[in-house]
Parts: sequence; structure tokens; C-alpha cells
Amino acid sequence: MNHVVELALFLHLLAVVVWVGGMFFAHLCLRPAVADIAPQMRMPLWLGVLQRFFTWVAVCIGVILISGGFLMSRFGGGGQSPWPVQAMTGFGVMMMLIFGHLRFALFPRLRRAVQAEKWQDGAKALAGIRMMVTINLVLGVCTIAFGVLGLV
Ligand code: HEM
Repeated sequence: MNHVVELALFLHLLAVVVWVGGMFFAHLCLRPAVADIAPQMRMPLWLGVLQRFFTWVAVCIGVILISGGFLMSRFGGGGQSPWPVQAMTGFGVMMMLIFGHLRFALFPRLRRAVQAEKWQDGAKALAGIRMMVTINLVLGVCTIAFGVLGLV
């Protein structure tokens, strides 16, 4: 019982590492490495990669919300929290909304395009996903900075 706060912080950070680290890997390592592969092979590959990654992100979001809400309750709620925690919460919620758009609007477009073998539509959906992931990666790094540097 004594170490509940440490456990919550551990789970919070583990989920952040998986989410932000996964976006970093996908955007800066996997994307350039597969850029020259033919769309017929590249797009089904992205579909499989993103399907699995997005499931993990959904789990991470659940963990971040529960652990973050618990950690915030120590300050007596959102309004009484220090400003870096409030900023983290705001940015975190923005990241989650962007993820929702990615997962439930853009990703189904990619799936439909791959199933119909419409590679141009698939390229459009992937470009949208890429832009949203870039935004979320920047927001994620800023959120980590709020979480760590703001409390210094
Ligand atoms: C959206 C809901 C979120 C809530 C309510 C929340 C809340 C909190 C709270 C209350 C703490 C503990 C602060 C302290 O004890 O001083 C914390 C720590 C932290 N959070 Fe969040 N957070 C959220 C999302 C995020 C996201 C999306 C990220 C990163 C992408 C993030 C990164 C961090 C980091 C790096 C720490 C560790 C700070 C430290 O102890 O040095 N959080 N969070």
C-alpha cells in the first residue's frame, strides 16, 4: 500500500515510453526504411504494423488516464495541481483526441484502400496518418518536458 504512488508513476511512465517510443520508431526508423518498397507490399505492411501498434496505444491510454488521474488526486484534483501537471493533462488529452481521429477515421480508410487495392487512396490515408503521428510525437515530447522539467 505504501508504494502505490511509485507503482502508479512506474505504470504511467511505462505507458508513455511505449506510446511515444513507438511513434518515434515508426516515424523516424520504419517509415524511411520501407519508403522505397512497392505500394502493394508496403501498405499491407503498414496496415499490420499500425493495427498492432494502435491496440497497444489504446491500452497505454487507459493506463495513462487511470495512473495520471490517481497521481493527480494527491494534489486534490485538477484545479489544485501545479501548472506543469495541468499542462501535461491538457496536452495528454489533445494527444488522445488526435489518436482517436487516427484510429477511427484515417486508419479505416487505409484498411479499405488496402482491401480494395486502391493504392492512391492508401497513400492519401497514410499521408494523413503520418501528419497526425508527427503532431502527436511533438506533443508527446512537450508533455514529457512538462512532466519532468516543469517540476524542477
Ligand atoms: C492526460 C492525462 C494525464 C494526467 C492526468 C497526468 C498526470 C500526471 C501526474 C499527476 C503526474 C505526477 C506529477 C508529480 O507527482 O509531481 C504525472 C507524471 C508524469 N507524466 Fe503525466 N499525466 C497525463 C498524461 C501524460 C502524458 C500523455 C505524458 C507523456 C507523453 C505524461 C508524462 C509524464 C511524465 C514524464 C511524468 C513524470 C514526472 C516526474 O515525476 O518527474 N503524462 N502525470
